[in-house]
Amino acid sequence: MSNAKSFVVAVAGATGAVGREMLKTLEARRFPVSRLVALASKRSAGQKLPWKGGEVTIEELGPKSFEGVDIALFSAGASVSREYGPIAAKSGAVVIDNSSAWRMDAECPLVVPEVNMSAAAKRPKGIIANPNCSTIQMVVALKPLHDAARIKHIIVSTYQATSGKGQAAVVDLMEQARAALDDKPITPSVFPGQIAFNVICDWKAGEADYSEEEWKMVHETRKIMGDDAIGVSPTTVRVPVVNGHSESIHVQFHRAMKAEEAKSLLRNAEGVVLMDDAYAPGKHPQPAHASGTDPVYVGRVRDDIAVPGALNLFVVADNLRKGAALNAVQIAERLFA
Ligand code: A2P
Repeated sequence: MSNAKSFVVAVAGATGAVGREMLKTLEARRFPVSRLVALASKRSAGQKLPWKGGEVTIEELGPKSFEGVDIALFSAGASVSREYGPIAAKSGAVVIDNSSAWRMDAECPLVVPEVNMSAAAKRPKGIIANPNCSTIQMVVALKPLHDAARIKHIIVSTYQATSGKGQAAVVDLMEQARAALDDKPITPSVFPGQIAFNVICDWKAGEADYSEEEWKMVHETRKIMGDDAIGVSPTTVRVPVVNGHSESIHVQFHRAMKAEEAKSLLRNAEGVVLMDDAYAPGKHPQPAHASGTDPVYVGRVRDDIAVPGALNLFVVADNLRKGAALNAVQIAERLFA
C-alpha cells in the first residue's frame, strides 16, 4: 500500500456511465485517494474528466497501468476485466470488478456490504466481484427478511433503466424519443429495437428460455445469500427510464411473515429506506426520485392475498450508484478506509 491513510486508485472504464459515477462517488464520499488513475480505451486517451474541482487526464488501459495501484475498480466490460483483472491483482492491487467476468468464480467473493461483507476477506485471486445491479438492490431489501424467516421462493419482475446498458444506450433512448416525437422513423443504435415509449427484453438468450440477465439474478442471489436452496423466478425487462431500476418482488418464506413484521425489519435495515405510506398514488418508490441518491427504496409492502404468509413489495434504487459504483466504493471503504 502506498501509505497507511491514502491510496492510489485506478478506475478502468472511467469514461463510461458507471466509471464516471465511480469518480463522483469516490469524491463525494471523500475516499482517501492519493492519486487517481483514470483508464479507458485508446479512443479516450488524453481527454479529461472532472476530479476534485480540477481534472484528471485519461490514460489508455494497458498492461502497465496498475503499477503502484492499491485499489483497481473495473467497469469496462467483461472481456477487459477478464484480461486485465488478473494483471492488476498480480501487480498488487485489490481488484473490485463491476463486470460479470468473475462473479460466479468460486475463488472470487461476490459482495454486497450490507449482506455479506465478511466474504470479501477471502480472495485468493485478489479479485472481488460486484454483483449485477438488479441483484444488488433485491438482496439489500430481502436480506433482513431472509435472516428472520428464511426465504423459500422469490418471483421477481424487473423494470430496468437504460443507463444499465451504458452511456451510449441512454443516448439511443433520447434520440429514439426525439425521433418519435418529431414523427420520424426510429433507428435504434444500441438497443435491439425501439425502446422509446416501449418495453423490451434486452438480453442475450440463456438456458431454458431465460435471459442471461435472469440467470444472473438466480445464481448471484444464491451466492450472496449463501443459500443454494432459494428459488428465484425472474423476468427482466428494459423500460424507457434513463436511470433507476424498479423491481416487483413476490417472496415466500419457510415460516409465514406478515407485512407488519417485514416493515419493522425494513425500517431498521442498513441501506434501506422504507416508504410505508398506506396506498396512495405517487407515494411509492420511483426511479425519478431514486436517481442520484444512495438508498434502496422499499415500498408497497403487502401481505399476498392468494398465498398466506407470503409478501409482495416494490424496490427501487439508482442502478449506477447502489447497483454499481456505490457498492464498489463501499466495499473499498470497508476494506481500507
Ligand atoms: P471509452 O470511452 O474509451 O470507449 P459504458 O459501459 O458506459 O459503455 O462504458 C464502457 C467503458 O469501458 C468506457 O470507459 C470505455 O472507454 C471502456 N472500454 C471499453 N472497451 C475498452 C477497452 N478495450 N480498453 C479500455 N477501456 C475500454
